Amino acid sequence: MIDISQYQTTPAIPEASSMIETFRAIGYNIETAVADIIDNSISANAKNVWINFDWKGSETWLSIKDDGSGMDNEELIQAMRPGSKNPLADRSSKDLGRFGLGLKTASFSQARKLTVLSKKLECSPAYWTWDLDYVNQTGKWNLIRFLPENYDESVFDDDSTGTLVIWNDIDRIVKHFRQSDNNALDKFLLIMEMVKKHLAMVFHRFIESKKIKIFFQDYEIKPWNPFLTGEPATQSFSEEQLHNGKVIIKGYVLPHKSKLNDESFRIAEGTKGWNEHQGFYIYRNERLLLAGDWLGLFRKEEHYKLVRILIDIPNSLDADWQIDIKKSVARPPLIYRDQIKNYATKVRTQGVEVYRHRGKTIKQSNGQKFVPLWIDHKRGNKWFYKVNREHPLLELVKSQAQNDPEMAIETLVRFIEENIPSKSIYIKAAEEPETQGDPFEAADQEPIRNTMEVMFNSLISKGKTADEAKAIIANIDPFNQFTHFLEFIN
Ligand SMILES: Nc1ncnc2c1ncn2[C@@H]1O[C@H](COP(=O)(O)OP(=O)(O)OP(=O)(O)O)[C@@H](O)[C@H]1O
Ligand SMILES: [Mg+2]
Repeated sequence: MIDISQYQTTPAIPEASSMIETFRAIGYNIETAVADIIDNSISANAKNVWINFDWKGSETWLSIKDDGSGMDNEELIQAMRPGSKNPLADRSSKDLGRFGLGLKTASFSQARKLTVLSKKLECSPAYWTWDLDYVNQTGKWNLIRFLPENYDESVFDDDSTGTLVIWNDIDRIVKHFRQSDNNALDKFLLIMEMVKKHLAMVFHRFIESKKIKIFFQDYEIKPWNPFLTGEPATQSFSEEQLHNGKVIIKGYVLPHKSKLNDESFRIAEGTKGWNEHQGFYIYRNERLLLAGDWLGLFRKEEHYKLVRILIDIPNSLDADWQIDIKKSVARPPLIYRDQIKNYATKVRTQGVEVYRHRGKTIKQSNGQKFVPLWIDHKRGNKWFYKVNREHPLLELVKSQAQNDPEMAIETLVRFIEENIPSKSIYIKAAEEPETQGDPFEAADQEPIRNTMEVMFNSLISKGKTADEAKAIIANIDPFNQFTHFLEFIN
């Protein structure tokens, strides 16, 4: 460190108004902001959390109350300070906090007034308010001992504990809304619905294990489990450990649509839809940080939409996993990326199989081997799709052809048409765009030349001139790709 005794110093205190705008710009939305407040409730061992709002147009307020351990006056003042704890300090293994900022940054991101009323056992209730307009005007970071109307200190009984967070002046959402405007109310309710869904997802493990109940306008939020563990057709992979067993990774392939009822299918699509929800789900102390993200290891693609992979990390690895203030970002340390990628590749491979084959067991069922109609195979470095010559349908068609050749051809063509392996083709085209083979590419082209010649002769015998016959053939798929053969036909 610099030996300051030798130098002049001068204060350079952060300027209140610009600091406030910086806090407001951390990038929360209302869902992540509310979740951040509930993190604190869970860390304070709350059993119940109640979220309430009162629609009053631009005067709408929102409150989050818990029955956790609460704070006394000194603790509350400390809690209201931006940067109330050192991010480097060790935390209890159940603590969901890290930066000493969430209460303030989450609240300021949405509202210009934050009031916290808290009661600790055997202490009288304490309350303080941040009013950003007041801080702006005065340039001073001073709390106000103010409670909004409709509230008084009796929110908590003498023998109860807990904390109440109130947001007023929620300018990020309701600034220009009038109470009488029903359209505005609809928009607001839609936003509240998103908040509810987000909480159902982020805290689903706490709700499932009955550690906490979250009430939204007195309605108890049901958990949203991304892995559909209650569905019999969900396939789970055995877990793998990383980082000396501190991190756990476990893959799931969700059931194909045909194995879910309509309601389960709809619920499973979550807030972002099936496609967007594929990927890793990173939990920190059981709290979901990231819901469906391939962490830059893969792209999101339709055919991987059934793949969801859980990663559990403890809060002792926050720095290694680069947890952000909003608790919405986590990045695996470089040294684990390969292991995570290899594990995910296995799960993804199975995910594609289920997606392609509607969840049918393709290996063996009842001791019988599955017989595909189409087989994908590589010629050179390109993919081709051939009809399985061993398929029983071909035997059937051959015997049918002896009595009724036209019918036999129709049967064969119809089966081929109806079963085009479009999913396989689509998957390969998306994964390896340059590897789709063209007709007869890298194969003996004699059959196509012969067929063109037979067709030419047949057209001539029907009275066409050589030029006419060639013009007709040159316009027939796929002969149009082999017009060079026409030069040699006479
Ligand atoms: N509902 C609550 N009940 C009890 N104590 C609380 C509550 N909310 C906040 N606190 C106290 O206030 C402190 C500051 O909360 P804040 O959310 O700002 O930071 P943090 O939770 O420590 O870290 P992070 O920035 O990661 O959220 C907490 O560490 C906790 O001690
Ligand atoms: Mg917090």
